Amino acid sequence: WGPEGHAIVADIAQSHLDPAAAAQVQALLGLEGYDRLDQIASWADQHRKEMPGTAGWHYVDIPLQTPDYQAARDCPRGNCIVAQLEHFTRVLANRSANPRTRLEALKWVVHLAGDIHQPMHAVDDDDKGGNTVQAQFFGIGTNLHSVWDGRVIEHQLDLKLGPNYSIDRTAVAARAKQLEAGITPAELAQWAPAGTLATLDTRVVDWANESHHIARTIAYTDLAKPSGVAWSERYQAKAWPVIRERLEQGGVRLAEILDEALGSR
Ligand code: ADE
Ligand code: ZN
Ligand code: ZN
Repeated sequence: WGPEGHAIVADIAQSHLDPAAAAQVQALLGLEGYDRLDQIASWADQHRKEMPGTAGWHYVDIPLQTPDYQAARDCPRGNCIVAQLEHFTRVLANRSANPRTRLEALKWVVHLAGDIHQPMHAVDDDDKGGNTVQAQFFGIGTNLHSVWDGRVIEHQLDLKLGPNYSIDRTAVAARAKQLEAGITPAELAQWAPAGTLATLDTRVVDWANESHHIARTIAYTDLAKPSGVAWSERYQAKAWPVIRERLEQGGVRLAEILDEALGSR
C-alpha cells in the first residue's frame, strides 16, 4: 500500500488491540517518542534506501498463472513477505530481546501485515507485481500496481498525498473510523479467529494466498486497454469493495497478531 493504506490498517488495528497489547505497544513506541501505530506504518518504505536487501521483504512473487504459494519457489532464502512477517512477529514476541530491536520488529510487523493484504503484493507476471503495466486512471498516468497501492483509495476517500508522500493523519484517521464502523461481528469472527503464534505460519500463508486469488480473478482482468474514464469507473467499482475489505482484514488481523505477541492471550 501507499502511506494512506498503511495508516488505515494501523488505525483499525490500534482500536482493536486488547488493553495488555495496547500498553506494550505504547511502551515500545514511546522509546522513540511516538504514540500511535500509524506513525510507524510506512517507516519500512521511508527508509528503504538505508536498508539495502529489504526490498523483497515487502511482497511475494507468486506467478500469476499458478494457484498458490510454494515456499521453495516463491520465497528463496526467506526473501519474501511471508517469511519476514513471521520472523518479525516472533522477534516482537520475544520478551528477552532488546526493546529497540522489538520496536524495529513492531515497525516491520505493522507494515508487512498491511502489504500482505494488498493483492498486487502476492503476484507477479514478469511485471514486478504490475509496476511495469502502464495505465491511465481517471486521466492520471500511473501503473497497475499503484492503482492498487493508492489510486483507488485516494479516489474513493477523497485523499491526496502531500510533499514527500506525506499524509493528513487526521483526515486518514477519520476515513479509517468510517471503514471500521462497517465491520460486522460476523466478519470479525471470520477474519481473526482467536489463535496462537503456533499457527502463525499457516495463517500468513493463507493471507498471501487470498491476495493472490484476488489478483488473479479481479486485478488482472479487464486490462485490454487500461485507460479512459469508462475503464477507470468500471475498474474503481470492482476494485474498491475488495480493497476496502483487504484494509479492514489487514487491520483486524494486525491487532490479532499484536495481541498474541504482546498481550495476555
Ligand atoms: N517487485 C517485484 N514484484 C513485486 C510485487 N509483487 N510487489 C511490489 N514490488 C515488486
Ligand atoms: Zn506496493
Ligand atoms: Zn511496503
